[in-house]
Order: sequence, then structure tokens, then C-alpha cells
Amino acid sequence: MQTIRWGIAGLGKIAGKFAEGLTQVPGAQLVAVASRSAERAAAFAAQYQVPQAYHSFAALAQDPAVDVVYIAAPHTDHHPLSVLMMQHGKAVLCEKPLAIHLGQVEEMITTAQAQQVYFMEALWTKFLPQFTRLQQLVQQQAIGQIRSVHAQFAFVPPFLPDRRVLNKALGGGALLDIGLYPILLANSLLGPPDELLANAQFGPTGVDEQCNMLFHYANGATAVLSCAFAYTGAVEATIYGTDGYLHLHHPWHGLCPALSWYNGQRELMEKIHFAHHGNGYQHEAEAVGHDLRAGRLQNAVVSHEFSRQLMATLDRVRLAAGIQYEQ
Ligand SMILES: NC(=O)c1ccc[n+]([C@@H]2O[C@H](COP(=O)([O-])OP(=O)(O)OC[C@H]3O[C@@H](n4cnc5c(N)ncnc54)[C@H](OP(=O)(O)O)[C@@H]3O)[C@@H](O)[C@H]2O)c1
Repeated sequence: MQTIRWGIAGLGKIAGKFAEGLTQVPGAQLVAVASRSAERAAAFAAQYQVPQAYHSFAALAQDPAVDVVYIAAPHTDHHPLSVLMMQHGKAVLCEKPLAIHLGQVEEMITTAQAQQVYFMEALWTKFLPQFTRLQQLVQQQAIGQIRSVHAQFAFVPPFLPDRRVLNKALGGGALLDIGLYPILLANSLLGPPDELLANAQFGPTGVDEQCNMLFHYANGATAVLSCAFAYTGAVEATIYGTDGYLHLHHPWHGLCPALSWYNGQRELMEKIHFAHHGNGYQHEAEAVGHDLRAGRLQNAVVSHEFSRQLMATLDRVRLAAGIQYEQ
């Protein structure tokens, strides 16, 4: 099996989880990491036994020993770092949200096409077992026709105004950080909405701390979605159909323990339990490896078009809710 040689750009919290996830992927090797700081690069490389540590993203882009770079920097750096890597012929797996707005996403996709390199948004949720099972049940008409998707993601982050989560200059705020998950669920099941309403409340650092969304579809279906940094809530989702409903238990977007299937009389038909191995980040990395070995330039589950529509929906929610970023 061809070894896929990985690099990581930006060595914060998620980079560590991804590095751990990679250890579970057959035929994957983490060969280089890059940080803005030489000390952090060296410490990360020592922790995960990575042979090469750079304190420059350009040096990582130029390393011929790297096939694919995972971009794990704050949202605002996704666009410039992905473009830099792709211009040097690297495949890219970029963290969510792919960028701050659709214009940047279009440029990233154009760069991938011009350079003929692989490019994918790291939507790990779409590769987790509960997501595949959910889609199978929907396709089998287990709940008839979908009429409404209800999903939320809410937690209270520590008040650290300079860190990316609450920092407007780094694309902080609930919508792009966690509101993206309920939207990706609705978009996966119903496609992008025909109409939407949204409102937001803002916190002391100026970022959105709560955003409530109501999506309408031409066939009469709806989605009721929310995200918040202002309170802690169960990260659950329920999909209501004409003949029953499917409930994804907390945390539905991650290591979800179970999916409950109810019929139209609210009787439990089946509770499907998921046995997760590893931290869950290995699945998206494995998918990238399969694609690269097969010579594909994009992934079938998280296609360029899916990411484009996701960002377009985020832009529409922003506009409706009055959420602004500096880019
Ligand atoms: N898929 C998921 O489950 C998941 C979970 C969490 C986060 N994420 C996404 O991953 C990205 C990173 O999140 P995180 O929680 O890992 O953030 P984080 O802990 O703040 O780490 C981000 C890293 O990016 C680097 N960086 C590059 N330019 C930067 C800048 N201008 N300001 C600050 N840091 C900069 C820093 O590493 P160096 O100092 O080494 O350069 C920093 O440690 C976000 O876009 C987020 O949406 C995804």
C-alpha cells in the first residue's frame, strides 16, 4: 500500500487530536509539522514522533517529502494556508469552516482545479458511523419523508478573548465554529434551504454568542437549528418524518453513542449503538488516503460542491442575522 505522507500546519488543540487519529490509519505517516513558533514545532514533533519540524508554513509547503497537508490554523488562515500549500502542489485537507466567506472558498476550489491537486474540507462528522447509518435509514424510508430537522450545538467556552473562539479578528463566534454542524446535517438531508430566517445575539467581544435559524424548503420541509456559546446544551439532533423520527444522541456530531429510531406511534423500533475506536478523526484521514491512492481530486462524501453550498448557507445566515467578520 502506498504510504500517504502527511504534514500539519498550525499546531493547536485540533492538530494534536488529528495527529493522534492518524496513528490509527493504516498506510499514513505524519512526516512534518509547521508552527509560527520553532519551540512549539519542536515540542509537537517530539510528542508525536514527527521527523521534521518547521517554524515556517512556506518551508512545509516546499518539503518534497509531504503529500498532503492538514490545515489546523484558525478560520482566518484557512484560505491563505490552503492556497499556499496547493500552489506548491500539495493535496490539502482543511479544517472547517473552509474559509470566512464563499468568495474565499471559490478561490480555494479554483486553485485546486488549476493545480490539479486534491482538496477537501475536514468535516469529520460526515465520516463517522452514525452519519452513514442515519443516511441509510433515511434512504430506506424508515421514517417516511423528512418533514423537519432539529439540531443544536451549544456550550460555554472559557472567557479567553484573545483565543480564536471569541476573537472576531480570527473569525470567532458560534456560527462558524459550531453552528456549521447543525447546518451540515440539514444540508446533507435536505439540501440548501430555499428560504431562511436567522437572528443572533452578540457577546462582549463582538462575536455571535447565539444564533437561531429557521430553514424552509420548497417541498414544505423545515429545519430548526441553533448554536450558542451562551449556554450549555445537549448536542442532539432529531429528524422528523411522516412515519416516525430518528434521534441522534449527544454528542451527535462526534463520538455519538447511539441513534434511536421511533415509528409514527412514538414506539422505539431500534436503538443502534456505535462502538467508536480511536478519537474519530481517523476516518476522514483514511478517506483522504483512499482518494489519493485512487488519483481522485475530491471526495465523494464531502465534495467541493457540498462545501461550496455549506459556505453559501453560512453566508446567508450571516446576512440574515447581521453577523459580520473582518474579512
Ligand atoms: N473538526 C473538529 O472537530 C474541530 C475541533 C476544533 C477545532 N476545529 C477547527 O480547527 C481550527 C483550529 O482550531 P483549534 O481549536 O485547534 O485552535 P487553536 O487551539 O487556537 O490552534 C490553532 C493554531 O493555529 C496556529 N495559528 C496560525 N496562525 C494563527 C493566528 N494568526 N493566530 C492564532 N493561531 C494561529 C497556532 O499554532 P502555531 O502557534 O503552532 O502556529 C494555533 O495553535 C479551527 O478552524 C476550528 O474550527 C475543528
